[in-house]
Amino acid sequence: MSRREKSAGGPSQFYTGLVAELYEPLLSERSRAEDYLAFLDGAGTPALELACGSGLPLVDLVARGYEVEGLDASRDMLDRCLALAKSRGVDVTVYEAEMQSFSLPRRYRSIFLAGASFILLTNDDDARAALGRIHGHLEPGGSALIPLEIPELRYIERQVGHFREAESDAGERLRVGLVSFEVDHDDQCLTRRLRYERISASGESEVVERDWITRWWTEPQFEGMLRDAGFDAVRFVDPSGGTSVAGASVFVALARNAASNTSGGASC
Ligand SMILES: C[S@@+](CC[C@H](N)C(=O)[O-])C[C@H]1O[C@@H](n2cnc3c(N)ncnc32)[C@H](O)[C@@H]1O
Repeated sequence: MSRREKSAGGPSQFYTGLVAELYEPLLSERSRAEDYLAFLDGAGTPALELACGSGLPLVDLVARGYEVEGLDASRDMLDRCLALAKSRGVDVTVYEAEMQSFSLPRRYRSIFLAGASFILLTNDDDARAALGRIHGHLEPGGSALIPLEIPELRYIERQVGHFREAESDAGERLRVGLVSFEVDHDDQCLTRRLRYERISASGESEVVERDWITRWWTEPQFEGMLRDAGFDAVRFVDPSGGTSVAGASVFVALARNAASNTSGGASC
C-alpha cells in the first residue's frame, strides 16, 4: 500500500505528519547544545529558541540548567519535543506560534535559532515581521543569534535524485531525497521538491512529496533589515564564532537590542 500526499500549506506546515516523524531519524547533522553555550553564557537567560522543532538542542540546554523556552509553528514537531523532554525527565515550556507573529507574555535576554530555519521565511515582509517580534521580545540590551545560509546551487544540482537513508527501530527503511528544484533569482528563493518515504519490512510504503521553500539574504541585506527592526551592534560570524568571510554561504547574524528599547521594533 502506498499513500501519496501533495505539498501541505505554507512553509510552517512543511514539518507535519510523516515529515515530522522522519525529521530526526534522517537528519544529516544534529543541532548540538554545545554550539549555543557561549552565546547563552554571554547574552544571558531567560532565552527563547525559535523554530525549536523536535527539541534539538532545546531539551539538552534545559537539562543542563539553562532557562530556555521554545517556539515552533508545527504542533507535530512540538509534540515530539515534549515527548523527548518527558523521556529525559526534563520540564520544557514551548509555544505553538509563528516566528513572524508571536506574542509571548515575557521578555528574554537572548533569542536564537539553532540552525538556519529563519530562511524558511520566504519573503521580506515575514522576515521583517519576525525580526520585529524578536526585537520586541528582547529585554533592553538583549541579544539575538540568527544563523543564515545562501544556497550553493552547483552542489544542490548534484543532489537531484540522491536519497539519504536510515533504518527505524522497527526495521523500516526511511528515505529522503531531492526530486527537483527551482531557483527564483529575483526573489532570492529556492524551492526544493523533497520526497520522504517509509517502507515497512513487508514492503508497504508511505510516500510524501513536499516543496521545501527557502529564501536567502546577503549579509548587507540582512544587516539592513536588522537595523530597520531596531537592532544595533550588528555583526556576522562564521558558525564556529570566528570572523565571517565576505561572500560566505553560511554565516550567523549577532545583533543587540538597543539598550533603551525605544526604537521602531514591534511592541508586544
Ligand atoms: C529544520 S527544523 C529545525 C528544528 C530544530 N531547531 C533542530 O535543530 O532540530 C525547522 C523548524 O522550523 C519550524 N518553522 C518553520 N517555519 C516556521 C515559522 N514561520 N515560525 C515558527 N517555526 C517555524 C518548523 O516547524 C520546524 O520545526
